Amino acid sequence: MTIHAISGYHAASETLADKQLSQSLYDEGAVIMADVLLVLHGAPHRARRGLELRVFRRDFFRYYEHEVFPATLAQSMGAHAERGHADLIDLGYGITMNLTADFAGVDRPRGDADETAQLRRLTATFSEGATLVHSTRDKEVVRAEVRAALAEFDATFYRPSMQRRRDLLARFAAGEITEDALPRDVLTVLLRNEDKVEISPDLMMREIAFYLQAGSHSTANATTHAFHDVVTWCAEHPEDDRRIRSDPLFLQRCVHESLRLHPASPVAERRPVCPMALSGGAHATPADRVVVEMAQANRDTTVFGPDADVFNPHRVLPEGIPPWGLTFGTGVHTCLGRDLDGGMQARPDTDPATHQYGIVPLLVKALLDRNARPDPANPPTRSSHTERPNWGTYPILFDH
Ligand code: HEM
Repeated sequence: MTIHAISGYHAASETLADKQLSQSLYDEGAVIMADVLLVLHGAPHRARRGLELRVFRRDFFRYYEHEVFPATLAQSMGAHAERGHADLIDLGYGITMNLTADFAGVDRPRGDADETAQLRRLTATFSEGATLVHSTRDKEVVRAEVRAALAEFDATFYRPSMQRRRDLLARFAAGEITEDALPRDVLTVLLRNEDKVEISPDLMMREIAFYLQAGSHSTANATTHAFHDVVTWCAEHPEDDRRIRSDPLFLQRCVHESLRLHPASPVAERRPVCPMALSGGAHATPADRVVVEMAQANRDTTVFGPDADVFNPHRVLPEGIPPWGLTFGTGVHTCLGRDLDGGMQARPDTDPATHQYGIVPLLVKALLDRNARPDPANPPTRSSHTERPNWGTYPILFDH
């Protein structure tokens, strides 16, 4: 087996968009990831993505951001802010857990902190399982933990959520309720279209578990990175500090710059489905692996300029290059949560009052509005159970 490394922004982008390459980063994490959307290829991927995409529409993101999210945010952030301190990783996970559960279709009937904590604990285990390829722990031990977490999730959260949706769909079919009364989430869409996609009961449960981890883990990490980059920049650039606090479009630009520097996974991995020529001309076969260096591509100086390695929200981007680079991927597996989390890219005529900013910029704004700042007595630490460059703890202080 030959491992082909693809570096450079344009080669990486071309490789991710190549339909002769299928997903292979999650092979090690099959205990949760086998046959979920992210690892499917070709027609089965198109069919399932087409269905699930119905939940990820811009009009719904706008509604969610303006109508649903502010209440969740005020409640979770308010409790931490009143205490005067928090761990940003905890806080981020608490908020993004509920957000992702809403989109996946996982009910939290009690709505209390213990329930969120249980879901968060299960999701953290799912994440470790999905990203097993980068785990520094004994992989068999992690797999056993994931199996136990899936069983607990199935009994506690998934089955009651599924039954409630099945009952609602039966009432809808009988004409007792209108379509508006159905939840708008991935689980409802799948249950409603069971005859149109091949998906076993076990796979449907893992698909929902996959959503929980895909959404919450990356959103919580991106929020912590963005907060860190923004406060570090403000400390070194006092002239931008006031602007960041008063101009939400500029703050969104800062978050996009941070997303570029910290893709959720530093690499993507693909396997050729047939003998083929890779970007750059090398020949690859199905026995080979193609490693796309996402973090490196996002710091390509020929695209992002000589200071590509550092945070600079004033960076001028070439035409057609997204400010977050390849952080949300590109091609058939482009992240379904991209616009939800990153918002729409501002244009010169964007109205700040009606703009869709994205969940991560809104979270960072909510932190800054409460004067959140790193706790000088407890510096943040890096996560030790993964090779990914994530924060493990990030203590912050609030103004009372
Ligand atoms: C900052 C936050 C996020 C980042 C950086 C991120 C990143 C990514 C990346 C890089 C991919 C493609 C992976 C590949 O091509 O190998 C992806 C796929 C995906 N993401 Fe996200 N994601 C984020 C948030 C979310 C959220 C909030 C959701 C859902 C609520 C979500 C759902 C998905 C799904 C379903 C896919 C698979 C799409 C497919 O295979 O067709 N993501 N994400």
